[in-house]
Amino acid sequence: MAAPKAKTAEIETVIIAIANHKGGVTKTTTAINLADNLAKRDENCTVVLIDMDPQANASQHIGVAHPAKVSHNLAELMLNPTANIAAFIFDETHVEGVSLIYGSMSLENVPDIIRHEAARPNEVLKERIKPLIGKANYIILDCPPNLGLLTMNALAAATHYMIPVESGASYGLYGLADLQSRITKVKQINPDLNFLGALLAKHDKRMTLCQETENDAVILFGRVVPVYISPTTRVNQSIARKQTVGDYDKNNKVAKQYAELAVYVAKETKGKGLKA
Ligand SMILES: Nc1ncnc2c1ncn2[C@@H]1O[C@H](COP(=O)(O)OP(=O)(O)OP(=O)(O)O)[C@@H](O)[C@H]1O
Ligand SMILES: [Mg+2]
Repeated sequence: MAAPKAKTAEIETVIIAIANHKGGVTKTTTAINLADNLAKRDENCTVVLIDMDPQANASQHIGVAHPAKVSHNLAELMLNPTANIAAFIFDETHVEGVSLIYGSMSLENVPDIIRHEAARPNEVLKERIKPLIGKANYIILDCPPNLGLLTMNALAAATHYMIPVESGASYGLYGLADLQSRITKVKQINPDLNFLGALLAKHDKRMTLCQETENDAVILFGRVVPVYISPTTRVNQSIARKQTVGDYDKNNKVAKQYAELAVYVAKETKGKGLKA
């Protein structure tokens, strides 16, 4: 991670978990494009993306190495209480200004091990990333599509969370009440966890089904992010080229929406980060 340019004591670290146990709702796309736009807003800003998913999609997208070939990955970091986190943060990525802690398939085994070996299995990540508090401006946690121990670790370590929701999807928001009840549990160990809102992704406001998702999200989550992410083929194209949407096509509507999302996140989290 690049050395912070402001004095360490002045830096507040905002930790954002991008969580939803449903698959394919744009968690990874949101994590990457939000990280990119937070970094682009201010060149002095340090942004670290942590890939918490055994699928390692974020690592495949922004990492310059193949996740299977990186030995200093999140699984190793979580399993080694004496690990030096600096060795696990890779500054060279496909996204300028965004550093990466790699995910890998070996993360699959981490929950079973820490459940038996860690004194507080939900708080292993929180412990490990402590050295970044007061050094990184933003830590973005890309969660896996389940409510297991990795997602719990992300929510226990985070200062904020955001729930991307696929607008107009079949089965709507069915099952997401489980996420809400899990968050209620996490708040017992992380009472200061703030909700940034449900993020409506692939949202076409002309579509009745999308309007229904929006109404349901307001009822279920109480808070919807005031920036909507439209559907676009540009996202898939940008992934194929290992770019963010903004780097691939800065004039695209979704590129602009992710820039607006970063403005919203920066404003909402200001003063609510952790200090060293
Ligand atoms: N705005 C968008 N418009 C169209 N397609 C999108 C958009 N955002 C993301 N996608 C596509 O939707 C799919 C799912 O996105 P993504 O991988 O980010 O979801 P995820 O929640 O991280 O999935 P998983 O649960 O498997 O980790 C991908 O193919 C991605 O390219
Ligand atoms: Mg993902």
